[in-house]
This record gives sequence, C-alpha cells and structure tokens, in this order.
Amino acid sequence: MKNYAHEYALSVNNPSKYWLEQSSNIAWSKTPTRGCSYNWESTKGTIFTEWFADGELNITVSCLDKHAQNTPEKVALLWQGEQSDNVHTYTYKQLLEAVCQCAHMLTNLGIKTGDIIALFMPMIPETYIATLACARIGAVHSIIFSGLSAHALATRLNDLKAQTLITAASAVRNGKNIPLLDSARQARACSPSITKTVVINHDEQSSLESDEYNWHTEINNLPKTFEPVIRHAEDALFILYTSGSTGKPKGLVHTCGGYILYASMTHKQVFDIQPEDVYWCTADIGWITGHSYGLYGPLSNGCTSILFEGVPTYPQPDRYWQIIQKYRVTKFYTAPTVIRLLAQAGTKWLEPYDLSSLKILGSVGEPLDPTSWQWYHTHVGKNRCHIVDTWWQTETGGVMLCALPGEHKTQAGTVGQPFYGIKPTLVSATEDRSITDLCITQPWPGIARTIFNDHDAYAKTYFTAHSGMYTSGDGAFLDHDNYVITGRIDDVLNVSGHRISSAEIEGAIVKHPTCAEAAVVGQPHPIKGEGIAAFVVLSADCIETAKLLDEINLCLRSCIGPIAKVDFLYVVEGLPKTRSGKVMRRILRKIVHGTTDIVGLGDISTLLNPEIISEIINKIIHG
Ligand code: WT7
Repeated sequence: MKNYAHEYALSVNNPSKYWLEQSSNIAWSKTPTRGCSYNWESTKGTIFTEWFADGELNITVSCLDKHAQNTPEKVALLWQGEQSDNVHTYTYKQLLEAVCQCAHMLTNLGIKTGDIIALFMPMIPETYIATLACARIGAVHSIIFSGLSAHALATRLNDLKAQTLITAASAVRNGKNIPLLDSARQARACSPSITKTVVINHDEQSSLESDEYNWHTEINNLPKTFEPVIRHAEDALFILYTSGSTGKPKGLVHTCGGYILYASMTHKQVFDIQPEDVYWCTADIGWITGHSYGLYGPLSNGCTSILFEGVPTYPQPDRYWQIIQKYRVTKFYTAPTVIRLLAQAGTKWLEPYDLSSLKILGSVGEPLDPTSWQWYHTHVGKNRCHIVDTWWQTETGGVMLCALPGEHKTQAGTVGQPFYGIKPTLVSATEDRSITDLCITQPWPGIARTIFNDHDAYAKTYFTAHSGMYTSGDGAFLDHDNYVITGRIDDVLNVSGHRISSAEIEGAIVKHPTCAEAAVVGQPHPIKGEGIAAFVVLSADCIETAKLLDEINLCLRSCIGPIAKVDFLYVVEGLPKTRSGKVMRRILRKIVHGTTDIVGLGDISTLLNPEIISEIINKIIHG
C-alpha cells in the first residue's frame, strides 16, 4: 500500500512528468520531450488531448523487434483451435517474420501509410499478424467483431470508407463453420469503397471473385523483414467501433504513442507480469479487451499468451479448465458472463483438473457480483489467487480502476482503486440526483482522441455533462476506498459484456411489419447479467402471435448479429412518453428492475400518457 500511495501521488500530481518517465519502456525512434496538452472545456475551444506530441515510433518495434532480439525463441502466441490437437505456436522471431511478410503483402496490394484497413476475422494467429502488419506499414486497422451480421459490417465499412477488407473463408464455433466470407460479400455489395478483399483459409476448390485475393498465394515467399514505418505519437493506430446511446455505432480512434504505453503498463501491473508467465485473455480481438490485453499489452511485455478459437462450453463446459491445465496458465482474464455460465454448469467440470498454476484471475466487462466473485475465488483460484475486477471502457484504452496485485486487497463487489495517473470523481448526475456519474478529471495517455468522422459527437458525449471532465456514462459510488459500479446511466445495454444501444435494437425491432414502436431496456438476467427487455406496440389491426418473438429475433440477428436477442418481450398498448414525444426508458428500466408501485417510479408528471404506466406494470406482473 505504501508503494501505491507514493507512486499514485506522483502520477496524479505531475502527470506529464510521470508518463514521460514511464514512456522510457517504449521503443521510440524519437524520444518525446513533451507530455500532455489538452482542453476539456468546450467554452474554451475545441476539445482535444495530446500526449508525447513530438515523439515518433512504430509500435511493432516494442511488440516484436525488441523481443525477437532479446528472447527470439520465446513463445509469443500459442494458438489453440477448437479441436484439441489443432495447435500452432509462434515464437517472437517467427511472429516478427510473419508480420513482415504480411506487411509486404499489404504494400504489394497498394496499401499506403495512413490508409484504413478493415478486418473481419476469427480468432486465428493471422488476425493478430494482419493487425500488426497494418501497424508495421503505418496503416490504421479497424477490426470488426466477426460475430456481427453483414448489415452491421456494412454500416461500419461505410463509415470507415475503407478500401481494403481482410477476412476469412469461415470461423469455427461450436463445431460448426460460420461462413464469414458470405457475410463479407453481402456487406461489400452495399459498401462501394471496398475495392480489395483478402481472404484467408480459402478452400482452393471454390473460386474467388475478381477483387478477392487469396492470402496464402499472395504471401507466399515474400521477404521476412520489413522496415517499420515511423509514425508520430499522435497518429491513429486503430479505430474500434462500439455502441453509444444513439443507434449509430461510433468509431473510437486510438493513437500510437499514448495507447501503446497505457495498454502496456496497465497490463504489466494489473497482471504483475513476470518472464515465466503463461497469460490467457479469453476476449475476442473484435473488442477493446482483445486489442489491449489479448494483443498489444501482452506482446509489448514480451509475454507468452494463449489465443483460443472456441467457446467455453464446447464440446463440454470443461474446455477452459482443460486449456489452463494443458498450458499451465498463470494469469487468466475473462468476463463475468463466462464465470456465471461455468459456475452454473457446476464444479464437477473443473474438479478433475489441476489448476495449481493459476496466480491472478481477472474479470472485465460488467459487474462481477459477489456470488460469482466467491465462486471464481474458491473453485477456480482455490482461495489462493488474487482476483482483479477491472473497470474500463473502449474509450479509456486500458484499465482505470482495479485492485492492483501486491498493493490492494480485493473487496468482492468492488472494482478497487484508480490506476496510476487516473483521477476519478463522483458527480451528481444532471437528471437523476440519486445517481452519481463516474468522471475522470485529468487526461491519461490511453484515452481515445475522437470519434471517427464525428468530433462533435465526441465532445458532446464525453465532455459536456460536466465541464472539464471526462464523463464515463457509468454510475458509481465509493465503499470505503473502493469504487462500486452501478452500471450505465445512458441508454446503453451491457448484454454478456457486449455493449449494445437501446436505439440500435429498437431500430431493428421496428423493421418487423407488426411492430409500430419499440422501447428497449436491460432487465436482470442470471447468465447474461443484463438481458434485453423489449416493450413493443403493435401496428393497427395487428395481433400478437406465438411466433412474434422468434421473428423479432430474426430481425435483430440480421441487423446486428446473434449477440442481440430479445429475452423478455412485452406487448403493450403504448409507451411512456414525455410531452415532446421522447420515450422515458428510465421508467421502464425501474419497472423491469422490480418497482411495481407508481410512487417508486419517481416523477412521472412530465408524462404525456401517465395512464399507460399501470397497464405496463400489470403486463409485467401478470404476463
Ligand atoms: C462498459 C464498457 C472494458 C472492456 C470491456 C467492455 C461496463 C466494464 C466493468 C466492471 C462493471 C464494467 C461499464 C463500461 N464495465 N468493466 N469491471 N464492472 N462494469 O468495454 O464495451 O467499452 O464497455 O462496460 O458499463 O462503461 P466496453
């Protein structure tokens, strides 16, 4: 604790000095002399944050060359396919060579520094290779989660106006092949900017279309060295989409210098990384956890990490325990929804396995409730592992709040204390005074610098509610010195750790001809954390049929992907609305959380149609 208190004070009292010192762990081509400059008050001009503005680097040198030189034979990636004998390892030397070959392939295809490349790929080593190759040539990667639908992919491709897409013939999931190329082709049909598609693992028998390139043919025999293209610290490294409170997904832009430093240092400290560690983060590369703690953090720290293409329950719910035993995993990072799923499957699935290699168990994505915390601690960690629940967001680039191993004692149900350089504060929310907004009062290197193509939305979303601060969108309170996250205070749902906006789901539901209007809120769900509760008003003369839920879910699947599925459907006569016609989701949220008397709902005087409330409550109670 003494170390933490001392270092924390240094880090927040003089952040520029602190982070410049820390940045010596990064391989710069030109060492920065400038720390941070920023403006977080819209009254004083454009909102911006800059770190290390005069620094220059290529982040792949920190992730690859450095280790290929120092520890060339150390395993960087250990890929485990869904079949247990399907394994492939890359040492740091081999990984660097593969990335260089891929960098040649991309430049041969005409890709230049600063171009945006979209990736729609499964959890295979080539996804990491292609991502790093983009960084090597100074192109900006945008990885789109491979579980999204063709429609969702097209929306993102059109926002990016990317010219190149890298995809795979298929992904493997639950023993089935998911045809990614089919989705990519459908998406491309409505994304005119895409002129080239690179396809990996394509079956030689079937033909590729004219603007499609076979990865294996193109990459074959290319040189295994490639000079890294030097970038400015503030140049974009990647764009990653996430959901906000509107229906339109937003592409958060992360930079080379600040991001890599923050991902690297948080990874090292949160997991107390040691040379002999075997580290496993189960997150998909399509999300920020996969970026920061699957790819960039571990590689920058020269770590051996596992990449698993599969799910926790296939062929049986012992898959994760089997992998931990097989590779003697020491540090493990997963999500509460996985912990709940495996806890529900039962301890009989993990009893046969030797999990004694484990030292630190991490969690991220949604609140880790005390029951799941206890299960994780007792059954997986055998009461001897440090549990680290980490709070952060796509926007923050890396962990913001956690109980650092060796420094803090974990308190179940809380996300601990601020990481170095992070200065949180709790501010009364503007609308509902019973909630306090979790805000951050000064910049840290990992913060996303803008929303791609929409800097105004960036300024508005994060920097207007409380001037001069970053507003996270989460509510929180303090329990002793530890933060407790109460969840999103905007119209964003967190379903199994996936962030989806109410508006996105509502837009998909009303595509169904029977549905005139829809309002969506999160309702507690035993495995998913939050399930999707949809209040639907039917079109005139339409009646509810037994098939309605399935049909609505087909709309969701095609607009968003299989991660979006209505769990609770309520057909109602009308939705609670303000006089200006805005749906009051706040009231619906309270009702599905169990408030069934009108007084408990708070102020409903601004409603245009207060009579609708008792009808809705009846529907919830009596079905
Ligand atoms: C939202 C961010 C950060 C990587 C994965 C999700 C929720 C995240 C926790 C936690 C309670 C959490 C918040 C946050 N969240 N971690 N440890 N405890 N809630 O990234 O998709 O950007 O979602 O996830 O609501 O705002 P994301």
